[in-house]
Amino acid sequence: MAELVTEYMGLLLPSPLVVASSAFSNRLDNLEAAEGHGAGAVVLRSLFEEQIEAASSALEEELARGAESNPEARTYFPPQRVGPHEYLSLVERAKRALDIPVIASLNCCTPGSWTEYAREIEQAGADALEVNLYSVQADPQISSAEVERRDLEIVESIRDAVRVPVAVKLSPYFTALAHFAARVDAAGANALVLFNRFLQPDISLERLTAVPSMTLSAPAEMLVSLRWIGLLHGRIRAHLAASTGVYDAAAVLKQILAGAQVVQVASTLVKNGIPQLGKILAEVEDWLDRRGTSLDAIRGTLSQREIQDPGAFERAQYVHLILSQNI
Ligand SMILES: Cc1cc2nc3c(=O)[nH]c(=O)nc-3n(C[C@H](O)[C@H](O)[C@H](O)COP(=O)(O)O)c2cc1C
Repeated sequence: MAELVTEYMGLLLPSPLVVASSAFSNRLDNLEAAEGHGAGAVVLRSLFEEQIEAASSALEEELARGAESNPEARTYFPPQRVGPHEYLSLVERAKRALDIPVIASLNCCTPGSWTEYAREIEQAGADALEVNLYSVQADPQISSAEVERRDLEIVESIRDAVRVPVAVKLSPYFTALAHFAARVDAAGANALVLFNRFLQPDISLERLTAVPSMTLSAPAEMLVSLRWIGLLHGRIRAHLAASTGVYDAAAVLKQILAGAQVVQVASTLVKNGIPQLGKILAEVEDWLDRRGTSLDAIRGTLSQREIQDPGAFERAQYVHLILSQNI
């Protein structure tokens, strides 16, 4: 039987299939079931920068009020009101319940003292930290250089705060993604997670208002990360984790052939249930066995640097494909 054990950011995973950060990974019973069905690691639901900021201003307010009436202001503050404490508790409980690595997740958009919180997450026992740089840059006055400078500041401050491996989850919306990926790599990221998936606003024709929409990904979306994994493999030191649109074993194998170290899944678990993990892994194993090969042997063999036609990952094929269409 093919060996599925995979090294990711220095951690040893029983398989290359990682449960992505989601509402699903907020519940211990889901995480235990995922481990039972072969997950290599779990990424917990994110703790949001806004939650940390809100908790610390609530704490300041409470301390100021408490200090007037009670010199023991710190013990006066009711801890259940501090959201991030619940997150630390989730990390601790997940660590106690699981043997596979537990990766905590911070979701953020601006540099600030909140990044210090990464240290507390590490102390709670997280094996690694995933930093989701999620922001929508709508201000015409702010340049891409400024956005990237801020993002790198976040990565550097979290890298400085902890010793555990740090993965950085990016969106595909960068003007020069390869260059930015190289800078995140140089800033000390141990892995890049490609990609984050933004929630898109919709418009309600009944209510005539903008409404947030949360839809699951579609399998075809996998091709965006497939291209970038293929382009970046062998060009940066950090591991590459594929995320978005991975529903089945075929998608997992393609991502590994392109150069992914691990593959993350969220939507397929929501849609098909947790046993989908075991089904995917059995099919991956079967494919490897039938070809007498291994994950390590195939990884990156179809990345841009390895294939005969490197243009397949770039513009050349686009021009060729468009010009050959006769509908
Ligand atoms: C219900 C739900 C909640 C999510 N919550 C988070 C989150 O807290 N933090 C995060 O980094 N990504 C979150 N994601 C994004 C997923 O981690 C993943 O990147 C995205 O769904 C694309 O992968 P998929 O196609 O396998 O779903 C969430 C996704 C879903 C569907």
